[in-house]
Amino acid sequence: MKLTLSVIKADIGGYVGHSGMHPRLIEVAEEELAKAKDKGLIIDFFVTRVGDDLQLIMTHTKGVDNEEIHKLAWQTFEVATEKAKELKLYGAGQDLLADAFSGNIRGLGPGAAEMEFEERKSEPVIIFMADKTSPGAWNLPLFKIFADPFNTAGLVIDPKMHGGFTFDVLDVKSGKRVKLNVPEELYDLLTLIGSIEDYIIKAVYRRLDGEIAAVASVEKLNYIAGEYVGKDDPVLIVRCQSGFPAVGEVLEPFAFPHLVAGWMRGSHFGPLMPVPFHFANPTRFDGPPRVIAAGFQIANGNLIGPRDLFDDPAFDEARRTANMISDYLRRHGPFEPHRVSPDKLEYTTMPQVLKKLEDRFA
Ligand code: F6R
Ligand code: MG
Ligand code: MG
Repeated sequence: MKLTLSVIKADIGGYVGHSGMHPRLIEVAEEELAKAKDKGLIIDFFVTRVGDDLQLIMTHTKGVDNEEIHKLAWQTFEVATEKAKELKLYGAGQDLLADAFSGNIRGLGPGAAEMEFEERKSEPVIIFMADKTSPGAWNLPLFKIFADPFNTAGLVIDPKMHGGFTFDVLDVKSGKRVKLNVPEELYDLLTLIGSIEDYIIKAVYRRLDGEIAAVASVEKLNYIAGEYVGKDDPVLIVRCQSGFPAVGEVLEPFAFPHLVAGWMRGSHFGPLMPVPFHFANPTRFDGPPRVIAAGFQIANGNLIGPRDLFDDPAFDEARRTANMISDYLRRHGPFEPHRVSPDKLEYTTMPQVLKKLEDRFA
């Protein structure tokens, strides 16, 4: 039996401001998905949130990009939006960009990471969910997990991984994708993905047998009429163990709180702080950006878990470092490189200011 794991997310209202989520929205979403489970549309589900983003984790047998599943997610977001409006939560329904659902959730506002696979004898997966950043945030950890032998010992000593992995990379500007094989094309891969706002890793496959290893959400990442409309708080699914990187190899890159784009007004670089679920509330300068890791064992489509994988003193130093980096970066105020470059700003007054000063430039 081929199983599909779908993670579909949207910001449909913040509590308070953009910092977190009201518990009622989670309950409402759980009620909707429980009905779908009773009807047999999905096998199992888990609802959670990171910051102001509601996360619907679902298993089913309908494949990726399935209309019924996407419609279920959309309707769940709509019902939760009603609750958000009733409570006058901040930005109620902000990610539901279309008036009505039309076949596929992609392009309508929410983000989705989905993968289909034959469930193994034991199927450990980790779902990473981040707030106040964009899918480029996964480039560095995905590279380390699947291409860096100093991170992943299995690349050197596990026969199933020794053949390397294939990275499927999206060019944000053109919307086209390219597949690169590591280790041979390691430097070409880095040339692209080092540019975290222009080239984004969409998926990773094991070269031995083409098995899907990881998939990320890359919605909303495009240029419309030459204008960047890019950031979307991203999710990432990674399969672990038995010829995939071990759970500990998958978590290891997050011990380094690398700089990502997002934070306040989606317009600043800041460290990605790995946190337990209960700390996923970006407050300081609407940040710093947060990531949570939900570990599940999948058993006949049932989601056994989650385990809160960053709820571990092993990540205390990463959190402390992230706070130190935050102090340092914040002292730059409105100056680059804390603030992103002008073409990547989500908010800007540049045209307005230039217009006002037009006659004074001499
Ligand atoms: C960033 C984010 C927040 C808001 C900021 C201003 O992704 O969601 O940092 O951009 O709080 O929000 P508004 O313009 O809604 O007042
Ligand atoms: Mg919000
Ligand atoms: Mg958010």
